[in-house]
Amino acid sequence: MQEKAGEHGLAPAELERERCVAAVGAFRKRVESGEIGFPELPENDKGARAILRETEMLRNSVETVVVIGIGGSGLGAYALDAAIRGPNPLQSGIKKGRPRLVVLDNVDPGLIATAVETLNPKRTAACVIAKSGGTAETMSTFMVVHEWLTKALGRKAKQRIVAVTDPQKGDLRAMANDEGYLTFDVPQNVGGRFSVLSAVGLAPAAMTGLDILALLRGARQANAMCWSEDFERNLALQSAAVHHALDTKRGKKIEIVFSYSSYLWGSAFWYRQLWAESLGKRVDRKGKVVHTGQTPVAALGVTDQHSQVQLYMEGPNDKMITFWAVGEPRREVTIPKAKHFSRYDSTDYLRGQQLSKLFQAERRATESALTHAGRPNCRWMLPRVDEANMGAFFQCMEFQTAFAGELYGIDAFDQPGVELAKKLTNGLMGKKGFEKYAKEVDEE
Ligand code: PA5
Repeated sequence: MQEKAGEHGLAPAELERERCVAAVGAFRKRVESGEIGFPELPENDKGARAILRETEMLRNSVETVVVIGIGGSGLGAYALDAAIRGPNPLQSGIKKGRPRLVVLDNVDPGLIATAVETLNPKRTAACVIAKSGGTAETMSTFMVVHEWLTKALGRKAKQRIVAVTDPQKGDLRAMANDEGYLTFDVPQNVGGRFSVLSAVGLAPAAMTGLDILALLRGARQANAMCWSEDFERNLALQSAAVHHALDTKRGKKIEIVFSYSSYLWGSAFWYRQLWAESLGKRVDRKGKVVHTGQTPVAALGVTDQHSQVQLYMEGPNDKMITFWAVGEPRREVTIPKAKHFSRYDSTDYLRGQQLSKLFQAERRATESALTHAGRPNCRWMLPRVDEANMGAFFQCMEFQTAFAGELYGIDAFDQPGVELAKKLTNGLMGKKGFEKYAKEVDEE
């Protein structure tokens, strides 16, 4: 706020509380009409229990689960895995009933070739996720993995494949029906980047032994807060208001998500998609050209203090910084007290102190330095990183995005801007009906 960050901060009135509360009402109408479905996902405990039950055998019989999905169909699984098991490749808790997760979300041939060369197909299950049921990257990777599993397992390969897709439409649905894969639905009113608490996130999490019921429980608690029309209570709404006002009134066109947790690093990438694809729009809901959207940038604390902070402190004042912090560390490490280190200034004062203290001190110092430099910043603080808190956090971020969409007056739930490149790719890859697009690229 202005009081701390000077002219680059906001005055309280600039948060436009009444307009924000109206945004809650407007969004509620879209949910009540059935148009938007993500807020209701945490209520579906029955669906989560079915996922747990139906994936039990797989969970207990493989050592690796390969997720094949991209964008909203891959990032949620990755975020959850990194949050609960730790950042890859330094993960803990991988054992029988808790296989490791590998996300194949890129068609770089090096990645896919290495995956099938290094993984054991006899000990691997695949979870293929595509809401549309036909995404080129996902389908091509799935074809490779399918052949790899079939060569090793023959007809039994089918029992190792789980499909997550639209309940009725699309080729993946048809294929799953034809082949008899275990299949879970993505509700039609839940878009990819808002789907982490549907089967899109829950199926891979259940297959790798995470507590998906706790995830939904946390999200339900967040729901109660996010629907509040009391501005002071509703953190998702306050956060949307701050982001929107800093962008539109102070020109903060970039949001730095500064995660002071390696466990939340995957979530920073999940959030980056949520914020960018939802709010980056050419026209508003009335058709007026507006070109909205903040550019989200992921940064890791403390690592990026030694890489990015110089720019955040002294470069163009066109950014807001959102710190993600965690109250209770997952593990503690005490810096050794060994006498030998007392001989040197740079080690003596650290002896016997806890690494978590240094970690928090560095975040607090960076927040304070940025504030002094008139660089507006805010903070989300998670009590700890576990399934319940992650469920609540995902839900808060999705509500924040939905509310921001209302404040900008745009539709946060579509992505018309990605269609053209998809058509051009289809043309270049020889898909029937897309010939003219190939010509367009070739003529450029
Ligand atoms: O948020 C979105 O809707 C997109 O990012 C999709 O998740 C992404 O394009 C993948 O789509 P699909 O699940 O159809 O493969």
